[in-house]
Amino acid sequence: MSFTIAIDGPAAAGKGTISKAVAAHFNFAHLDTGLLYRAVGRQVLLGTPALEAARALSADDLDGDKLRTPEIAQAASKVAALPEVRAALTDFQRAFARRAGGAVLDGRDIGTVICPDAEAKLFVTASAEIRAQRRFKELFEKGHDTTLETVLADVRERDARDMNRADAPLKPAEDAVLIDTSALDIDTAVARAIEAINLRRAAFAM
Ligand code: DC
Repeated sequence: MSFTIAIDGPAAAGKGTISKAVAAHFNFAHLDTGLLYRAVGRQVLLGTPALEAARALSADDLDGDKLRTPEIAQAASKVAALPEVRAALTDFQRAFARRAGGAVLDGRDIGTVICPDAEAKLFVTASAEIRAQRRFKELFEKGHDTTLETVLADVRERDARDMNRADAPLKPAEDAVLIDTSALDIDTAVARAIEAINLRRAAFAM
């Protein structure tokens, strides 16, 4: 039996951490769909046309460590605005979502476009300032030479592009449970997510 958990939200709101914890809790498979766009963005920076890169994408290209740089994040957000690129990545995400045993997908349009019939939907958000502080700390700890102002400008630029694009813009699905992590520690945010999903699981078990 399949059970799909869709977790959407802007950059650095905590959806990656929540998704991993939720997948481990329910023993579901997890797909960070941002990695698909990042892998395409990386290929574009290396000179491959976006659509060609999206069509040729393979699991070997989804190495998170290599893909989590600010340059690749911006390139990902740009290729993600191209409808043909999004279309080329749709089937893979839908097949993953319906695998037996349950799946967690996190991204921007999972509950709205990729899996509108997902059994559970969460929208994880936080203020731009808090998200920038978290991302800055992460980058600083990895040795990136940047400033909080640069990271905040980056977060705002990516938010604006992701929310205002014509195709699959970032927005909560009407039936998503909203979790604002601005004032929550990670354990509390994860507990809220699990609680919301358990309510949906109980509804489907009836
Ligand atoms: O979640 P992330 O920061 O790794 O995502 C990188 C970019 O990819 C993000 O700015 C927008 C895009 N993206 C998208 O458009 N749809 C998704 N489902 C996931 C990511």
